[in-house]
Amino acid sequence: MSREAADQFDQLGALYEDMATWPFRKYIETPSVFAALGPLEGLDVMEYGCGSGYYSRLLKRAGARKVVGYDLAEGMLDYARRCAQRDGLDISFRSTLDESCHAAFDVVLAVYVLPYATTPAELEQMAAEMMAPLRPGGRLVALPIHPRYAPATSYYEGCGFTLTADDSSNPYQEGGRLRLDLRYRQYDASVHAWYWSQQAIEAALHKAGAESIQWSNPTLVAGHDLAGVPPALQAYVDEPHAAIIECRKR
Ligand SMILES: C[S@@+](CC[C@H](N)C(=O)[O-])C[C@H]1O[C@@H](n2cnc3c(N)ncnc32)[C@H](O)[C@@H]1O
Repeated sequence: MSREAADQFDQLGALYEDMATWPFRKYIETPSVFAALGPLEGLDVMEYGCGSGYYSRLLKRAGARKVVGYDLAEGMLDYARRCAQRDGLDISFRSTLDESCHAAFDVVLAVYVLPYATTPAELEQMAAEMMAPLRPGGRLVALPIHPRYAPATSYYEGCGFTLTADDSSNPYQEGGRLRLDLRYRQYDASVHAWYWSQQAIEAALHKAGAESIQWSNPTLVAGHDLAGVPPALQAYVDEPHAAIIECRKR
């Protein structure tokens, strides 16, 4: 299990909260995630790897009935609890998954969590943990590293980060380690992530009971206020660093 990968997040609540307002997330990722999620009114939703709880709060505001945020990093969960309390939102945050979470949700959302599986076995376990909370027919929306992210280190600089494979001669190596340097506003932090191919992710999800797996790219969503979109974001739209997966539980 990716304890090692999760531990690096304990101190990063404020960073991830701020990052939610960075233009590539605000204008591209968040609207694309909600377009994939569809209407949430009255649904029970789990956010797997909720971090600072940014999406959990949006899910609740979007009308979800029950929202549970799950994460391994206690530091992130503390941060998430404080934010939800501040906003008067009834969200439960937890660091374990037990029987009460099994087949109890209509939707699971997992944004940037699959890249923190460090081995094929962890990838399978994570996929199983993401699918288990779903009722039959329930939907998973997950954002992994894009199987064909732009490998040039500087490509995403205009978005506030760089992505560098440990082995730059083989950026798409199965299970290869990547370094994500986050440098924007007052922030300067690095985390490690792991690359998984479309084939490896689909195999793990199928094994966990997923069907109808679809991939798409996050993009600028029509109907949102695009007035302040920085031109540099077009490069992100052309080759996003993350993909969106949608699938159903059999
Ligand atoms: C990059 S952060 C993303 C947080 C949040 N989803 C967001 O979009 O802001 C990844 C999060 O996944 C959590 N995580 C990593 N592996 C996990 C696992 N096996 N189970 C639960 N959470 C995990 C980390 O602790 C971290 O908070």
